[in-house]
Amino acid sequence: MGTVVLYTSHYGATARYARALAATLDVPCFELGKEDSYVVKNAQRIIYGGGLYAGNVAGLTRAKRYYASKEVYIFAVGIMQAGGPDICAHVEQQLQRCLGSGNAPAPGHLFCLNGAFCFARLNIVHKSMVRMMCRMLLGKGDALTREERSLLDALDAPVDFVDIATLAPLIAACGAGK
Ligand SMILES: Cc1cc2nc3c(=O)[nH]c(=O)nc-3n(C[C@H](O)[C@H](O)[C@H](O)COP(=O)(O)O)c2cc1C
Repeated sequence: MGTVVLYTSHYGATARYARALAATLDVPCFELGKEDSYVVKNAQRIIYGGGLYAGNVAGLTRAKRYYASKEVYIFAVGIMQAGGPDICAHVEQQLQRCLGSGNAPAPGHLFCLNGAFCFARLNIVHKSMVRMMCRMLLGKGDALTREERSLLDALDAPVDFVDIATLAPLIAACGAGK
């Protein structure tokens, strides 16, 4: 069996990418927690996608049980400037910490994509997380990173930066076949 796409998405941005990716590659797509574990266990390649929450890729640790002896690609979806080397480097460090060096994605297997954000749609836990993050960020003044600025800017008005075309490098890296 070939490739499966697995994802965790709280508000739908990652889900939109995951479904489009799976449709293009013509492979199965599962939300983590609702997956057919037989299919996932028997896949040779997993493409895992998760939204970024306080710098962490959602569901990454839970999905880790499937990674052993597979080719793993990861895409992280956040409200940041997609593909910026600093952003990818930051996510890569988080992945190394979370997965351990033996499970870290191979070079070129990590992709960062732009997501969406609407404060009004957040659940109560995420609202208070965002409020806390913003209080911390505002205290940083000029030392804010570009990613942090994007999060603060998105508080004022909902943003939707999802762009399915930006999946192209990931699709190219995986190849059109299963
Ligand atoms: C509590 C919270 C924390 C977030 N932290 C980050 C972050 O650290 N970096 C980032 O780029 N985006 C961050 N975001 C924005 C989400 O990654 C963005 O909304 C993304 O599209 C969510 O994907 P999903 O809807 O598939 O879960 C955060 C959003 C929330 C609600």
